[in-house]
Amino acid sequence: MNNLYANRMSKIPRSFVREILKVADEPDIISFAGGLPNPDTFPEEEFAESTSYILENSGAEALQYSTTEGYEPLRKLVSERYSKNGLSVDPKNILITNGSQQGLDLVAKVFLNKDDTVLVEKPTYLAALQAFGLFEPNFKSIPLLNDGVDVDVLRSQIEEDSPKLFYSIPNFQNPTGISYSLEKRKIIGKLLNQNETILVEDNPYGEIRFMGENLPPIKTFTDNSILLGSFSKVVAPGIRLGWIVAEDETMHHLVTAKQASDLHSNFFSQMIVHHYLTKYDVEEHLSMIRQMYKDQRDFMVEMIKLHFPDDVKYTQPEGGMFLWVTLPGDMAAMELFERTMEDKVAFVPGEAFYSDDPQKNTLRLNFSNSNNTKIEEGIKKMGNAIRELKSQ
Ligand SMILES: Cc1ncc(COP(=O)(O)O)c(C=O)c1O
Repeated sequence: MNNLYANRMSKIPRSFVREILKVADEPDIISFAGGLPNPDTFPEEEFAESTSYILENSGAEALQYSTTEGYEPLRKLVSERYSKNGLSVDPKNILITNGSQQGLDLVAKVFLNKDDTVLVEKPTYLAALQAFGLFEPNFKSIPLLNDGVDVDVLRSQIEEDSPKLFYSIPNFQNPTGISYSLEKRKIIGKLLNQNETILVEDNPYGEIRFMGENLPPIKTFTDNSILLGSFSKVVAPGIRLGWIVAEDETMHHLVTAKQASDLHSNFFSQMIVHHYLTKYDVEEHLSMIRQMYKDQRDFMVEMIKLHFPDDVKYTQPEGGMFLWVTLPGDMAAMELFERTMEDKVAFVPGEAFYSDDPQKNTLRLNFSNSNNTKIEEGIKKMGNAIRELKSQ
């Protein structure tokens, strides 16, 4: 059957992260590998009540086919949340999707021809490389500095290559935890206004800020933008709901592409989430998540300080779920991974997150789906393994 598969399938890597997650899922492994929210934050009782409420009061509507764009009250609610944060978005410009992952797939379907250029951060979210990669573009990667991408390189790439898309995760980036400064957001907005490149601004972690000041989306500074959002990190990923914000013409094409994909996202879960978000105190829920993740992040940083050699560098994110570690010299994170797996500790070697020229001495640590006992034991074992590799 080998020669029957489409060429595009040979071009995308299988998700190394998913492969690792299969191993890391085993109960005796301490895993910093996945990108999972902490299940203790899931509003199970509230969802039980919301589900019964919807079935009892609007069962026929919830279980019927519905519109591609999504449940109107939920689109309105997303729009209201944006306006509270100073961004005006009409509900008609919001398309409810099957997680923001489907947002990436639909944007790629609507915009990309084979060999189009797509700019990505270096490193970037692996599953975005997969979603875009199926449409066979040329990726060009822009170095990520501590306050966002290198804007000089971004400018010259935009001017030289006229890329169609620039994919960016400005808040608590996956995998590095880095956030763009306000100044960089403004510079990028201005740059995009002067060019045709469209920003795909992926923001699943924006509301999980536990330190520092909230910053506006880059979309605030440019209309050349498609903004993606998600309920995965603020409610629960299993409901598979997210959204795309796009202007009228793009919205029209996205709706057509979504009809071809799945007609519409799960209407039952859209109604449940809407009920949940209107009946319960979501701000209180978010505060609980932020406090939990902050405590876990602080403890992981404390343990890294205590157990890793001094020449290991790491980011200290102000939100989100990940921190990014750079090992000394040319120490390979993949080799470290093999070593720590013997001790039943998992993480993701950084090379999975590069579209080209991987920096092999990097790795990603997830702190949200853990607890202090596991963090202490896991980081201590990693520290010992790093020292061992250093001494070889
Ligand atoms: C940067 C980024 N974008 C998109 C997604 C996909 O999220 P969703 O569950 O909304 O599809 C993730 C999930 O981890 C992510 O890290």
